[in-house]
Amino acid sequence: MKRRVEKVFSYLDVKPDAVLLANSTDPHLDQSFFHLFEVSSGLFEGSVAVAHPDGSLDVTTSPLEAESAHLAAKHDPHVKIHTVTREGPESLEVVLRKILPGTPSIGLNFPELTHAWYLRLEKLLPSAKFVDATVGVRRARQVKDASEIEKLRKAAEIGSRVGKEIPSLLKTGMTELELAAEMEYRMNKYGANGRSFSTIIGFGPHSAEPHYQPGDTKLTPGVSMVCDFGAYYHRYASDITRSFHFGPRDAELKEVHDTVEAAQQAALALLRPGVPGKVVHQAAENVINATKWKGLFTHGLGHALGLAVHDGGVGLAPNVDEVLEEGMVVTVEPGIYIAGKGGVRIEDDVVITKSGYEFLTTAPRGYLEVSA
Ligand code: GLY
Repeated sequence: MKRRVEKVFSYLDVKPDAVLLANSTDPHLDQSFFHLFEVSSGLFEGSVAVAHPDGSLDVTTSPLEAESAHLAAKHDPHVKIHTVTREGPESLEVVLRKILPGTPSIGLNFPELTHAWYLRLEKLLPSAKFVDATVGVRRARQVKDASEIEKLRKAAEIGSRVGKEIPSLLKTGMTELELAAEMEYRMNKYGANGRSFSTIIGFGPHSAEPHYQPGDTKLTPGVSMVCDFGAYYHRYASDITRSFHFGPRDAELKEVHDTVEAAQQAALALLRPGVPGKVVHQAAENVINATKWKGLFTHGLGHALGLAVHDGGVGLAPNVDEVLEEGMVVTVEPGIYIAGKGGVRIEDDVVITKSGYEFLTTAPRGYLEVSA
């Protein structure tokens, strides 16, 4: 954990006396808290992590999760746990005053800090000067270390295993929600700590809506479908999409699938350190826009992946000038969406390597017609 704390400070031109990350109530938890403090269980609502330039980290916890916190810090001499109480000598106010200098400059992660927390910090530490440490926190997270890549790989393996099994789960008459339930059950069975986001299953015309919420629509022969899902493994996410055709084949959707595959290949061919995110997006979009489905790829090609599904690092989208670096993990997910008919999306998770990329997700990507 010391190396991660040092990394945050290394990206800050003006070093504050400390960087403070504060969790509110789920889902308003700053995932960067869990980047600096590797703890496998617990929500840590209301907890604070204070990172110091020497690499040490103070973490506050309520009694509720003190055991998990102490267990996580047991073998790390750079982490100190403080179990705080509402009032008295163990209150957050007293603890913060103890671990911070008299008139500290404190870096905050503005995008993840609630306004309520900011007001509270102003009251708790009236002599502190608060500065924006977003760039350090964000950059430290965007290049993954070996242990993070291992967790992402495991999350992707679980997703891929379920992806391979989807054809065997399809039955005439099953609903979108039933398929989602089967897939989530299997992810947990194969070692996931839950789903990394709400599973998207869209049958027929619903597959043309990229963020569709599954419902009670039944599977009937002759429709296409999009299955977009992911696993959490020790807090790290995977995100994979496969598209299938159920029953008698639809010639147009087969062609759409081939085009989406070609778009993904064009993008993958560019992945390497030094390439701006927007260049990779453009390569995929050019393939799609050269067909009769021009304009029907309606979202960015990919996003950073890590502790959050949309991890906030460098993505692959038209407005991303930032370049890829070795160790970044991104999704590559072109799609074509034909309103009223159906859509196709193919999504994989990749880690950028020294000279290119490596797939983390491995389920087959080709057009698959599943017998009804
Ligand atoms: N897989 C869902 C998303 O990226 O928004």
